[in-house]
Amino acid sequence: MPQPSSAPPAAPPDGRERPVAHAADLVVFGGTGDLSMRKLLPALYHCDRDGRLAPDARIIAVSRGGLDDADFRGKVDAEVRPGLHAGDAAGWDRFLRRLHHVCADVPAGRDAPAHPGWGRLTRMLAGREDTGRVFYLASPPMTFGPFCRAADRAGLVTPRSRVVLEKPLGRDLAGARHINDEVGAIFGEHQIFRIDHYLGKETVQNLLVLRFANAFLEPIWNSLWIDHVQITAAESVGTPGRRGYYDHAGALRDMVQNHLLQLLCLVAMEPPSRNDREAIRDEKLKVLQSLRPISGTEAARFTVRGQYIAGRVDGRAVPGYLDEPDDTPPTDASRHVETFAAIRAEVKNWRWAGVPFYLRTGKRMPDRRSEIVVQFKDVPHSIFSGGVPNRLVLRLQPGEGIHLLIMAKEPGAGEVVPRPVPLSLSFADTFHARVPDAYERLLADVLAGDPTLFMRRDEVEAAWGWIDPIVATWESAGDLPEPYAAGTGGPVAAHELLGRSGRAWHEEDLP
Ligand SMILES: NC(=O)c1ccc[n+]([C@@H]2O[C@H](COP(=O)([O-])OP(=O)(O)OC[C@H]3O[C@@H](n4cnc5c(N)ncnc54)[C@H](OP(=O)(O)O)[C@@H]3O)[C@@H](O)[C@H]2O)c1
Repeated sequence: MPQPSSAPPAAPPDGRERPVAHAADLVVFGGTGDLSMRKLLPALYHCDRDGRLAPDARIIAVSRGGLDDADFRGKVDAEVRPGLHAGDAAGWDRFLRRLHHVCADVPAGRDAPAHPGWGRLTRMLAGREDTGRVFYLASPPMTFGPFCRAADRAGLVTPRSRVVLEKPLGRDLAGARHINDEVGAIFGEHQIFRIDHYLGKETVQNLLVLRFANAFLEPIWNSLWIDHVQITAAESVGTPGRRGYYDHAGALRDMVQNHLLQLLCLVAMEPPSRNDREAIRDEKLKVLQSLRPISGTEAARFTVRGQYIAGRVDGRAVPGYLDEPDDTPPTDASRHVETFAAIRAEVKNWRWAGVPFYLRTGKRMPDRRSEIVVQFKDVPHSIFSGGVPNRLVLRLQPGEGIHLLIMAKEPGAGEVVPRPVPLSLSFADTFHARVPDAYERLLADVLAGDPTLFMRRDEVEAAWGWIDPIVATWESAGDLPEPYAAGTGGPVAAHELLGRSGRAWHEEDLP
C-alpha cells in the first residue's frame, strides 16, 4: 500500500501564520457519495494545502462499492481535481496518497456479524490509538447509529475519537432523539459534532464579530430600532434525480429546521459572556426556546408552502417538481411535498417583542441567494421626500459580504434628492484572501476539537420541537402546496405574508 508522503505541507499561500497540522485519521462513512466528492474531499485538499493535516494523516473512505485504494484515488482524481483549479501537482499527489478505501457495510441487525471490511479498517487503524480519529458520517441518516455501533464493536472508538453527523438529523423530534440516543450511547456529547454548514460560512461568523466587536450596533439591535428581519435561502436549481430524498424531506425539514433557524439564532441571541463554545450555544438555545409556537389556525396565517410548476429560470424552460426527470415516479407524497416554505416567526423576549422574523427558502427561485436582511425603522420625522429606511444585508452567497444601505444625497445642484446607497464590504476584495468553503472551516474545527460552530443536542431537538407542530398542521390539513412558476419568487401567499403589514421581500441586486 503506498504510504503518505512525509514531505512537509506547503506554507499557506497568503503568508499567514502556519496553522496547526493535526495528526489524525479521518474515516468517512459514505466517502464515495455526492457530499464527499463535491464538498468534503475538496475541503480536505485545501486543509492539506494550508498545512492543517500532519504528514501521516490519512483519509479512509468507507462504502459498499468494491473499490481498492487505487480505484478510489482514480475516482477522486477524475471527479474532484477538475473543480479545484489545483495548479500544485506535488500537493495534489501528496493528497491522493493520503486516500484509502475500505469496502464495508453496516451490520443488518444489532447482533448480525460484521462485514469483513471492518477487519481491514481495524488493521489500518491499529497502533494509532493515540492519534486523533474522526468518524465522518456522510451516509444516509439511518446508518448513523449502526455505523457507530459497528465502529464500537470493532474497538475503533478511542477517547480521542470524534464523530461528525451530517444533516438532516431525523425527520422530526422523535427521529432526532433516536439518532442522538444511538450515537450518544457510543460517543460523549463533547465528541459529537453535528454539522450545519451554514455556520461555517464567513458571513455567519462575521455576524458574531459585527455584533459583538463593534459598539455602534448593540444599542440599536432591538425592537425599538429594528422593524423586521428577513432570512432567505433561495436556490435556482430544482430537484432532478432527488425525488427519493426530497419527497420525504421538503423545504421545511431540509432548510428551515437547520440552516434558517441557526441564522435566526445568531441574529437574535443575547451577547454571550465570552467567546466560548458553550456560552454561544447556550444563547442560541435560549432563542430557540423563545420562539412563539405556531400550530393550528396560526400555521395557516403565519406559514406558506409552495411547489414549483414549469417555468423559466435563467431564460431556460424547466419542468415542474412532479415532472423532474427521476428514476422514481411521483407519488402522493410528491404532490404534497413543499419545495418552498415561508414563515413569520416571533422571538418572545424583551429585545424582540413585536419584531417579525420572516424566513423563506425555495427551489427554482430566480437566482441562488442566501442572505439576512435587517430592516431598520424609518426616521421619526423626515424632512426629505423619498426616504428609505436603513437596511443591513448580510450576504452568505453568492459573494459573501456585508452591505449597509444608507441614505445619501445625489450629487448636483437644486433640490436635495436622497437615495439609498450601499456601504459594502466584500470579504474577498477587502481581505485579498480566498474565502474558504464552509466545509473547510468546519473540518479544521473538527480536527482542532472546537465544537463552537456545531449544533448541540439540545439545540437540534429544540429546533425540531418548534418545527413539528407546523408539519403536523400541514399534514392534517391534507391540502396541496400552492403552486408557483419556476423562476418566480414563490407563491402569491408568500408575498401576502409580508404584504398584510405593508412590507415586502427584498430582492434588490447588490454589488
Ligand atoms: N449531497 C449533499 O449536498 C448533502 C448536503 C447536506 C447533507 N447531506 C447528507 O450527507 C449524507 C450523504 O449524502 P449524499 O448526497 O452524499 O448521499 P449519496 O450520494 O447517496 O452517498 C451516500 C454514501 O453512503 C454510502 N452508503 C450508503 N449506505 C451505506 C451502507 N449501508 N454501508 C456503507 N456505505 C453506505 C454510499 O456508498 P455505497 O452505496 O457504495 O455504499 C455513498 O458513499 C446524507 O446524510 C445527506 O443527508 C448531503
